[in-house]
Amino acid sequence: MDHKDLAVEARGLVKVFGDNRAVDGVDLNVRAGSIYGVLGPNGAGKTTTIRMLATLLKADAGSAKIFGYDVAKDAQIVRQLIGVTGQYASVDESLSATENLVIFSRLLGLSRAESKRKAMELLEEFGLTEAARRPLKHFSGGMRRRLDLAASLIAQPPLIFLDEPTTGLDPRTRNQMWDTIRRLVKEGSTVLLTTQYLQEADELADRIAVIDHGRVVAEGTVNDLKESIGTSSLHLSIQNEQSLSKARLIVERVLNVQSAVTAEGGKITAPMADADRVTDLLITLREAGIQLEELSVQKPTLDEVFLSITGQNTASNTQVKKEELA
Ligand SMILES: Nc1ncnc2c1ncn2[C@@H]1O[C@H](COP(=O)(O)OP(=O)(O)O)[C@@H](O)[C@H]1O
Ligand SMILES: [Mg+2]
Repeated sequence: MDHKDLAVEARGLVKVFGDNRAVDGVDLNVRAGSIYGVLGPNGAGKTTTIRMLATLLKADAGSAKIFGYDVAKDAQIVRQLIGVTGQYASVDESLSATENLVIFSRLLGLSRAESKRKAMELLEEFGLTEAARRPLKHFSGGMRRRLDLAASLIAQPPLIFLDEPTTGLDPRTRNQMWDTIRRLVKEGSTVLLTTQYLQEADELADRIAVIDHGRVVAEGTVNDLKESIGTSSLHLSIQNEQSLSKARLIVERVLNVQSAVTAEGGKITAPMADADRVTDLLITLREAGIQLEELSVQKPTLDEVFLSITGQNTASNTQVKKEELA
């Protein structure tokens, strides 16, 4: 691939804080015009990676180019090509949401009329129309977050970094955000977003990198990743919750995989290379006297992808430790 086709090209990025290698040799290739998801749990190194790519933090090793421009040597040019959420944090508290957005628009060179129109459009898009004339000091945390995101989208730069854009948003606003992200890409921008939500990466991203302890542990399309862990996924719930650990142990032994238990409903999920194994599993469960409530075989979820790559559950799964099963 020509480097001009790459919005982001990072090689061996490293950032060390004290003796913590927060980012430990990250490579990333983000094709222009795509949505790229960086997926990982809290503390994985997502924000630190973005800050280096956005020229906000100097890398200790490695290099990164944005549309072919080096983040260290061509930082000025790079800054004109990117937008980062969070950079407009110091807006004027006494001004209204509309006034703040108009000011940013004017600073970015939009005419008075354009600025006004853009502000209205964004306030509508982020569900802030009703609060538009209220001074910022009366805004809730969620409203501030939405306004911050709206402000970062005024200029619509070629590359937009969105660091956990939907964390803490209610479902309705989250869906609006997803629509906005899709629209930005349709209009020609490239989006690199970080998320802890597997569903979000699944929903939006053309490709994703799974990052854990500062390293990329898997990279590909969502389908690549799903395929890498098997073609199907078992979902199982049992009648007597007291047998949950026992049932889980049987699942793991028969399928020879790691399983997870969903937080809501105590459903056991596990990847399966071969759907035929279900027969063996059913026989073994019956022999153990475990009565099923529900069993289905589905396409794998990204939770299962993560579990199979890192051997760890994500935040949306509760972990039953091996010791408890033994
Ligand atoms: N400015 C900093 N000083 C010291 N440690 C930091 C700093 N920023 C991040 N870290 C540490 O680096 C690791 C990665 O953090 P971060 O990039 O924020 O992860 P994520 O965004 O994936 O949650 C964490 O262990 C975090 O505590
Ligand atoms: Mg972060």
